[in-house]
Amino acid sequence: MNEVKHRKLKISVLRYNPQDPESVPHIQTYELEEADGMTLFIALNEIREKLDPSLQFDYVCRAGICGSCAMLVNGRPALTCRQLTKDLGDEFTLAPLPVFELIGDLSVNTGKWMRGMSERLETWIHAKEQEIDLRRIEEPMDPELAEKLYEVDRCIECGCCVAGCGTARMRQDFVGAVGLNKIARFKLDPRDARSDDDFYELVGDDDGVFGCMSLLGCHDVCPKQLPLQTQIAYVRRKMVAMAFV
Ligand code: SF4
Ligand code: F3S
Ligand code: FES
Repeated sequence: MNEVKHRKLKISVLRYNPQDPESVPHIQTYELEEADGMTLFIALNEIREKLDPSLQFDYVCRAGICGSCAMLVNGRPALTCRQLTKDLGDEFTLAPLPVFELIGDLSVNTGKWMRGMSERLETWIHAKEQEIDLRRIEEPMDPELAEKLYEVDRCIECGCCVAGCGTARMRQDFVGAVGLNKIARFKLDPRDARSDDDFYELVGDDDGVFGCMSLLGCHDVCPKQLPLQTQIAYVRRKMVAMAFV
């Protein structure tokens, strides 16, 4: 039987540990034999197990659900558990997502950023008072609208859209496509009691929808293929209309 010859991968990783005063940012290159169906997540685990236990990176679900394994792969944000090495060249680079606080090597604190954004935009349903009556039978939602909300609720808060956005890199308080997507979602939801004025208050400025320069990197890199271009355009239309009231 013919033995399958696997490629040798050269993986260059940007390493830096901000907790260690001796640490300086540098590139470290690891060599690894590719396996069938190998994902970057598997490759990184193999590096940590066999070559370098000190390498820091994050993962939880390994299935594109938790959003914790995002990093820059050849400069482009991606989920390592969904990225097959066969779709990359023999040599490639890995770096942590920009914008977010660096924990170490490829690990960043997206949770802190997402929490700040969520608190600021109040990304939860502000229920209308009569809907809090638990004895009342809730009216079914229009299936088309329910489908639309379900579609955009698939956001896993991985941070790829923020890392791929020029505005987010320049403007620290910009809410990013992830935030604008959430605002579009709650604006569409008939159960949310917030008025157009309330939404304008939240994103009608340069840290919100008017900071977005329509660069669309967010739309290109979202691993869940959310319709970010449409969502942002919707919020912009609504907020421009409000600005001229
Ligand atoms: Fe990730 Fe897409 Fe959600 Fe942005 S909108 S955080 S890229 S899933
Ligand atoms: Fe950034 Fe996306 Fe707007 S990349 S500038 S949020 S269209
Ligand atoms: Fe959860 Fe990759 S490990 S999305």
